[in-house]
Amino acid sequence: MAAATPIIVGNWKMNGDRSSLLEIEKIAHSARLLGGVNVAICPPATLIERAAALAPEIDIGAQDCHAGDSGAFTGRLSPSMLADAGARLVIVGHSECRTPSGDADQDVCAKAERALAAGLNVVLCVGEPQPIRALGREEPFVIAQLLGSLPAQMNSRLSIAYEPIWAIGTGLTPPPRQIERMHATMRATLLQLYGSAGEGIRILYGGSANAANALDLLAIDGVDGLLVGGASLKAASFLPIVQAAGATLSR
Ligand code: PGA
Repeated sequence: MAAATPIIVGNWKMNGDRSSLLEIEKIAHSARLLGGVNVAICPPATLIERAAALAPEIDIGAQDCHAGDSGAFTGRLSPSMLADAGARLVIVGHSECRTPSGDADQDVCAKAERALAAGLNVVLCVGEPQPIRALGREEPFVIAQLLGSLPAQMNSRLSIAYEPIWAIGTGLTPPPRQIERMHATMRATLLQLYGSAGEGIRILYGGSANAANALDLLAIDGVDGLLVGGASLKAASFLPIVQAAGATLSR
């Protein structure tokens, strides 16, 4: 059984300033007209509050958070602070935050748990680097990462994003059958851990998703949405991806 509403999440990374709010406004306007698809944009933290006020039709999110609630953590932002600024979602465990000296699995787990407790939706990322792929070890690698990062309690506000690191920003994507197999293995892991409630967790694909390949990626069995980097920066390149997700609804 595929989870219901598709979700398209844009990750702006360290891109965007006040002038980019116009793109968020355009995205939100079209997403409202389209309906039926959950759309989220994660701009830099500096834009969260203004974007959330400007675009209530979509979920504005953060790209990372701290695992604590407050305290002496210079430069960090807690989930409750992000929620207070208007964020409804946070990405945790993105490969750009996991490596080289960043978050370990248990840090990602702690961030996810704190963010869920703060009422945020969470997109938890996993994915293998190229050398692991070259050895054909991507499934055990990703499943171990998943088991190490998942919150102890099932929560339907949690989504997982499978993002092969070698596919991020490279224009490369795994063959559809490999994405399908990975998503099926991840789903089996969620069911093992959370019982049948694990069906309620959406599994997104991410890595060079764009307007040209979105329909094909979303047609893969077990792909419940997309996490989009570069193609999410402009409404013109992001909205066709949202439309592709809308088209899957009428199938
Ligand atoms: P990309 O990035 O779409 O530019 O490959 C995806 C991501 O890093 O989340």
